[in-house]
Parts: sequence; C-alpha cells; structure tokens
Amino acid sequence: MIKRKFGWTNVLVPVIGQGTWMIEGNQDSERFAIEGLRLGLDLGLTHIDTAEMYGNGHVEEMVAESIADRREEVFLVSKVPPSNSSYEGTLKACAQSLKRLKTDWLDLYMLHWPGPHSIKETTRAMEKLVAEGMVRFIGVSNFDVEELYEAERALQNERMACDQVLHHVSYRGIERRLLSYCTEHEIAVVGYAPFGHGNFPSPQSTRGRVLMEIAKRYDRTPRQVALNFLSQHPSIFTIAKTSRPERARENSNGVGWELTPEDLATIDHTFPVPDQDGPLEMI
Ligand SMILES: NC(=O)c1ccc[n+]([C@@H]2O[C@H](COP(=O)([O-])OP(=O)(O)OC[C@H]3O[C@@H](n4cnc5c(N)ncnc54)[C@H](OP(=O)(O)O)[C@@H]3O)[C@@H](O)[C@H]2O)c1
Repeated sequence: MIKRKFGWTNVLVPVIGQGTWMIEGNQDSERFAIEGLRLGLDLGLTHIDTAEMYGNGHVEEMVAESIADRREEVFLVSKVPPSNSSYEGTLKACAQSLKRLKTDWLDLYMLHWPGPHSIKETTRAMEKLVAEGMVRFIGVSNFDVEELYEAERALQNERMACDQVLHHVSYRGIERRLLSYCTEHEIAVVGYAPFGHGNFPSPQSTRGRVLMEIAKRYDRTPRQVALNFLSQHPSIFTIAKTSRPERARENSNGVGWELTPEDLATIDHTFPVPDQDGPLEMI
C-alpha cells in the first residue's frame, strides 16, 4: 500500500484507509466486520477512522478488538462530537474514547463538525491532550476554508494536521478552494465516503459505464478506478468503509497502479468539479 506524508507531519500514512461508520450490527456481522478490519490491516490499510458517535461508542469498542495486539501498526483516528466539544467536554470525551479503544493514545483527534462551542475551547483542550501524550495530532472535519482558518488561528502551540471532508466522484466540491488551501498550509485532506456512502454510480448509468469501461481496460473494478482517481492529489488520503473482507482486498488495490492522463481527463470530464463555489457538503 502506497503511503504519503500526512500534511506537515513526518508520519507516513497509507493513501487508502478504513472507515468504520455503521459497522455495528448483530454478533455475526460484527465478528465479520472485525475480521474485515484485521484483514485490512494485513493489506496495509492501517489508517482506521472511527468516532465516538459511531454506534454511540460501540464501534470504538469493535475497533479496539480489531487492533488488539497490533496498536503500533495503526494510525488511529477518532472524533469528538460537537455537542461534547467544550473544553471540559473534549477532555472527558477523549478519555472515554481511549478507554473504549483500549489504547493510551490517538494518532489524530478531530472535531467531527463545527458545533455550538467556541473552537478556541476545543483546540485548547486538544492542545492539552497533545501535551499529555494522549493525542499526537489535532484535526477537524467538515470545516470549509473560513472555519479552518479560524481553527488554525485558535491553536497556540500545535498546528492543524488534517481536515476530513466529503469527497467522491459525484462530489468534488473540496477541489474548488479547500484542497489548495490545505496544500498551502500543509494540512492533510482525508476524503470520506469515496463510494458516496453507498451511492456509487451504477454500471447501468451513463456515468457508471464510463468507470466500467476504463476499469475493464486495466482489469480493475470501477471502485478501484474511483479510489485511484480520488487519491491523485498528493495532499489527499481516502477512507472507504466495508464490512466484507473480500471488499477490503478490492479496495486496497485501488492504488499502486496508474491511470493514463487520457483516462484521468475522461473521469474528470464525466464527474466534474462543480462550476461554482457552494457550501461544503457533508453527510
Ligand atoms: N467526518 C465525517 O463527518 C464522516 C462522514 C461520513 C463518513 N466518514 C468516515 O468515512 C468512512 C467511509 O464513508 P462511508 O462509510 O460513509 O461510505 P463509503 O465508504 O463511501 O461507502 C460505504 C458503502 O460502500 C460499500 N462498499 C465498500 N467497498 C465496496 C466494494 N469494494 N464493493 C461494493 N461495495 C462496497 C459498503 O458496503 P459493505 O460494508 O457491505 O461492503 C457500504 O455500503 C466512514 O465509514 C467514516 O469512517 C466520516
């Protein structure tokens, strides 16, 4: 699995990581999902993205099982929900996430989306967590340029490491302004929901057929083509979710091979960046 430098940090992170939203279920499906995450680790998908909000904390417990005995391999990310992101709330939320994840530290801790508390309170708490060794890097999620600028300014001793935002072939809004801003500021951009949260272009649709035809020529799948296309930019990482081990294998092969400039141009033309600035979309 290809790795690249995570923003300004010196940490190398795999271009494709694993999401964990909605992996909870019954005993059998959870066992399967945990096996999938472990297989993903074997395949080099060592960036694991979770959040307090997922399954009301239960997904963090599942992640704990999947990374037990291999914590050192993992770039582990969790998020504080905006409702808990006061100074005291963030400290408490992080302590609880660490407990559920059965680890002493998070590689990245993010504010899940802009919320009711002052960003200064959240970042002050996050800086304390870094100073105490519970968090390595600070990030935000679903922040557009102006909010990100405020969050960076609110930091006193640390630098913003990441903005995690929606990015899939049918939503490339971040490529208008945010991506170049983050690149200039050496902030890693983690694109979430690369398959549109299950709304991937169907092979019967005109646009889906374009991906399918390109995929066939490389002996790849349309999702692998999409992952390859989405992760072209050197500031970008992507996180896909699957609860099925065989799909983790498919997704892990989304990079490590090259689309021709002509095919990149065809995909770009079929799934264009919006022609106007608009509010950052999120799911
Ligand atoms: N910061 C935020 O606000 C935010 C918001 C949304 C998501 N996220 C993060 O980003 C991660 C990914 O986004 P997402 O889970 O919303 O959606 P996604 O990764 O775009 O799509 C997941 C869907 O695609 C299916 N899938 C995955 N690999 C497949 C394959 N190879 N072939 C066919 N189907 C496949 C999955 O089904 P199966 O599971 O059945 O394979 C699932 O239905 C989340 O899990 C979460 O960690 C963050």
